[in-house]
Amino acid sequence: MSYNHQHLLGISGLTTDEIFFLLETSQKFVEISERSVKKVPALRGKTIVNLFLEPSTRTRTSFEIAGKRLSADVINISGSSSSTTKGETLIDTVLNIKSMRPDVIVLRHAYSGSCELLKKLVPNTRIINAGDGLHEHPTQALLDALTIKQELGTLKDLTVTLVGDALRSRVARSNILLHKTLGNKVRVVAPPTIAHSHFEDLGVEVFYDLKKALPGSDVVMSLRMKHEYQKDYYVPNLDEYAVNFLLTESIISKYCPSAKILAPGPINRGTEITSELADGPRSLIFKQVTNGVAVRMAVLFLLVAGKNDYSPSEEEV
Ligand code: CP
Repeated sequence: MSYNHQHLLGISGLTTDEIFFLLETSQKFVEISERSVKKVPALRGKTIVNLFLEPSTRTRTSFEIAGKRLSADVINISGSSSSTTKGETLIDTVLNIKSMRPDVIVLRHAYSGSCELLKKLVPNTRIINAGDGLHEHPTQALLDALTIKQELGTLKDLTVTLVGDALRSRVARSNILLHKTLGNKVRVVAPPTIAHSHFEDLGVEVFYDLKKALPGSDVVMSLRMKHEYQKDYYVPNLDEYAVNFLLTESIISKYCPSAKILAPGPINRGTEITSELADGPRSLIFKQVTNGVAVRMAVLFLLVAGKNDYSPSEEEV
């Protein structure tokens, strides 16, 4: 197996074999973060630019850590410290970065399709999508899948239930694409204004009642109810959303007692999920974050090292 793409722009377009290959390669990188010296020379001499023009904690930090653990030179640019605050466009920003000859640009941007635009602007530089608008967040779906595989031992014949704002979630879109590619059942449950029937076009089952959606779920993923979108009035207010959709330990233990709980973060405790559930034994939230480093190391390695086969034993520093 191999990864046969120049970039990672989305889960869309990946085959089942490619998804499993990315996950198997990621699993090889898990162990490096457990070492006392968490560094291998795989990307020595390579330059990674993390261009995060939208806020991020987990993704930005883990891409930086991943690049440094691979011995690459890592440059981080955030929106607030870049010349985009002076009105410079994304295109001009990227053309200037390109002139400094990076090997890979990791982009987070508010515009859906911004990574596709970059691919055309900098054809000789690898592009990794770290979240583009409402479109995709492929490394998040991969780290979610790696976490599920480690916990449940399989990624087949699963029922994955997404609770919350799937409509405006790139995490939801990438997870839906990944699990439908693998042949799993995917459910979305939220108020009707958010859980549109158009999700059914993607092969997703749509529910408006949490108690009907949860039975049979192997994985329940809590999606963020974005405060920044509340002016859109998709729900009257977040307190009312919580009355019907808040994930609690008692609801999970009653309707899907063996389910594991995931959340991409950030989470709004008391709106989407209770602290008891988020911090409890069925929660995989922090394991997801740990796996984020391994997945991003794998993606950087496969795109930049020019090799498909990673062997940790050859890579001790
Ligand atoms: N899950 C996720 O993308 O988190 P950040 O926005 O903090 O990167």
